[in-house]
Amino acid sequence: MNDGGGTLAAGSQGRKFGPLGTALVIIPTYNEAENIKAIVGRVRKAVPEAHVLVADDNSPDGTGKLADELAAGDDHVQVLHRKGKEGLGAAYLAGFRWGLEHGYGVLVEMDADGSHQPEELPRLLTALKGADLVLGSRWVPGGRVVNWPKSREFISRGGSLYSRMALDLPLRDITGGFRAFRRETLEGLGLEEVASQGYCFQVDLARRAVKAGYHVVEVPITFVERELGDSKMSRDILVEALWRVTAWGVGERVGKVLGRADDDKPRQPRAGKAVPVKETTPDTGRSEP
Ligand code: GDD
Ligand code: MN
Repeated sequence: MNDGGGTLAAGSQGRKFGPLGTALVIIPTYNEAENIKAIVGRVRKAVPEAHVLVADDNSPDGTGKLADELAAGDDHVQVLHRKGKEGLGAAYLAGFRWGLEHGYGVLVEMDADGSHQPEELPRLLTALKGADLVLGSRWVPGGRVVNWPKSREFISRGGSLYSRMALDLPLRDITGGFRAFRRETLEGLGLEEVASQGYCFQVDLARRAVKAGYHVVEVPITFVERELGDSKMSRDILVEALWRVTAWGVGERVGKVLGRADDDKPRQPRAGKAVPVKETTPDTGRSEP
């Protein structure tokens, strides 16, 4: 399963990162029949060596069946059929579990609707050679959004700003869903404790990665609003994000006041090699040498 090439890249503070291994691009779907074939095709073309896992929540529009057809004709495509709609977080947790069990070295998160451009994936994977986690970022220099209504941009920027301040995170795009994790990073995040269901799942994982001391890099991306199908964003998803982020922030502050040592300094990852505490720096998107 390991065809990662074996390149060693120096990280911050001279840390060496191991080879990447095969990537699994996890695409959660709920009613993405109009998009699934195109997006899987684009991933296969952009990163032919990567595998794709569609995590479908029994979409009423038949997305799961279309994904099965793709899988039948391509041994790099797999489908995880789930019972029903349980939210983005649950779909990703199931996808990560599947990917880790099957030995993948890199686990990628990507939306099905074309907002995350598969053609930008190689840049994320290149950056991951020198990082534990790479975030595709709309809000670092060079990043942008196309065709998003101002109202949606306001919610997204506001969500990242609030999370950044409430949780004291040195990141710009904390809610985004175009990301690449090393398997060791996911193994160190305590996924079994993650309860976030909706889009705040993204904040939850970013927060866990920073607190665990992983080297998190933001790479600018161009986020293109979907042309087909509907966003699953809802009031419930926003409410869950708001209360969870607030509760995490309050919990951290109370912990500090009570002098709990583990809230004062980043924890070491639970799995893999010991990692020194590092600066989290925005990445310019330039390739590694
Ligand atoms: N399996 C499954 N189950 N998939 C889901 C569910 C679910 O309950 N809800 C959403 N999805 C899938 C969609 O089918 C799509 O592939 C992806 O998750 C993102 O959903 P969208 O509905 O397109 O999200 P968005 O465009 O409104 O939100 C984007 O921005 C958010 C805020 O920055 C995404 O990138 C989110 O990940 C991000 O948090
Ligand atoms: Mn979308």
